[in-house]
Amino acid sequence: MIKRIDRIISEQTTYSRKEIKKLISKDMVYANDELVKRPETKFEEKDISLRIGNEDIDIKKNIYLILNKPKGFVSTTDLINENSVLNLLPEKYQKRNMFPAGRLDKDTTGLMIITDDGEFAHNILAPNKHVKKVYEVTIDIPVTTTMKEEFEKGVELNDGVCKSSILNITGEYTAEVTLTEGRYHQIKRMFGRFGATVIELNRICIGNLYLPKDLKIGEIRELTENELLLIQEK
Ligand code: URA
Repeated sequence: MIKRIDRIISEQTTYSRKEIKKLISKDMVYANDELVKRPETKFEEKDISLRIGNEDIDIKKNIYLILNKPKGFVSTTDLINENSVLNLLPEKYQKRNMFPAGRLDKDTTGLMIITDDGEFAHNILAPNKHVKKVYEVTIDIPVTTTMKEEFEKGVELNDGVCKSSILNITGEYTAEVTLTEGRYHQIKRMFGRFGATVIELNRICIGNLYLPKDLKIGEIRELTENELLLIQEK
């Protein structure tokens, strides 16, 4: 994407627009080994090399963040909504056009990916890509083998029959559910068909990436390259 140099620097570093203007006026910014004279000068971001003073800036093409989502936050990109998960991001990421790759309900916790890469988000979300999502679920009545069998056959909801899913019974009221699609309130509605109410819902896995044990509720960090690969595995 072609962008103004001050925007590229602002998105890729912690410098403010005012500081960037100053750096440029002091002849401290080089793009593609040429001195940048004006903040408005435009460059193609994907192949730019950038130096500020003596420091080479490592240009990040896209950002992939993992969040252990707490309750009370919604998967909206509307920053005016103070409950948006985007308000949990450190400020340096808020300058980019980040969005949650997939929705979790306000009262659902767990693994959420926030990125600025639309194609990546599509690849892990589209039902025809079959990327699995695993949820730990607690319901208000005992989990039954009938539920397990019906989940495998495909539960009928008012917007059509769900794809076959796996329900592993882990306790009297608890289960792990694996889905390969993501409809609105899907797990709550699936259990609802059996008269059950979901009390706790926690996403623990996308693709082959499990929620890291050391990522506490509310914590966010960048995905490692290996995690990025795991998440796209089927
Ligand atoms: N299913 C739901 O009902 N809610 C979620 O947040 C995710 C899956």
